Amino acid sequence: MKFFIDTANLQEIQEAHDLGVLDGVTTNPSLMAKEGIFGHDNVMAHYKQICEIVDGDISAEVIATDFDGIVREGELLAELHPNIVVKVPMIRDGVKAIRYFSEKGIKTNCTLVFSAGQALLAAKAGATYVSPFIGRLDDVSTDGLQLIEQIVHIYGNYGYQTQVLAASVRHVMHLVQCAELGADVVTCPLKVITGLLKHPLTDSGLEQFLADHAKGNK
Ligand code: E4P
Repeated sequence: MKFFIDTANLQEIQEAHDLGVLDGVTTNPSLMAKEGIFGHDNVMAHYKQICEIVDGDISAEVIATDFDGIVREGELLAELHPNIVVKVPMIRDGVKAIRYFSEKGIKTNCTLVFSAGQALLAAKAGATYVSPFIGRLDDVSTDGLQLIEQIVHIYGNYGYQTQVLAASVRHVMHLVQCAELGADVVTCPLKVITGLLKHPLTDSGLEQFLADHAKGNK
């Protein structure tokens, strides 16, 4: 399973990278705005900086919602660095653009996916990744993990190459359950990745080991 970090914060990206388990990064317009990154040149420079930290797929989202605009923006993003993945929303022109990018050999991440039907469409269009938003489904009393299970099952039925990228991951158990269900990738905040480290028995066990070692070395 690949671990992506879901942030545009360079410090957090660096910290996850330094842990040695990071495979890529996902961003979105809200995450870029949170870091105060606005304007074409600043946005492009920021993506470049992310690419310099992480040698893995970096999702950069288009703002346009019409086919020509998505293609124009996506091609500019893809030219930035070979690791850029063009993130395209699950809308009619988005699906057409994903097909276009797929034929040009440009990697895509189909975002804002909330149903198995949408995921099927993304795979048919040739998306590299599909991003079902599990936390946002949970927020509206719908089982996000059930959607991951459905998509993994459907893609398995037909051997689709599109990778299931579980997004809107809110806590450690989301991540662990996505792994159980066979999601190819999970993207999450830094605290979810570092949350995997934690177990009280690890802490108390280590404390005991160190105390016992200290006794013998007095
Ligand atoms: C996915 O790529 C999105 O950027 C992200 O996971 C959305 O998460 P949120 O629902 O916590 O905003």
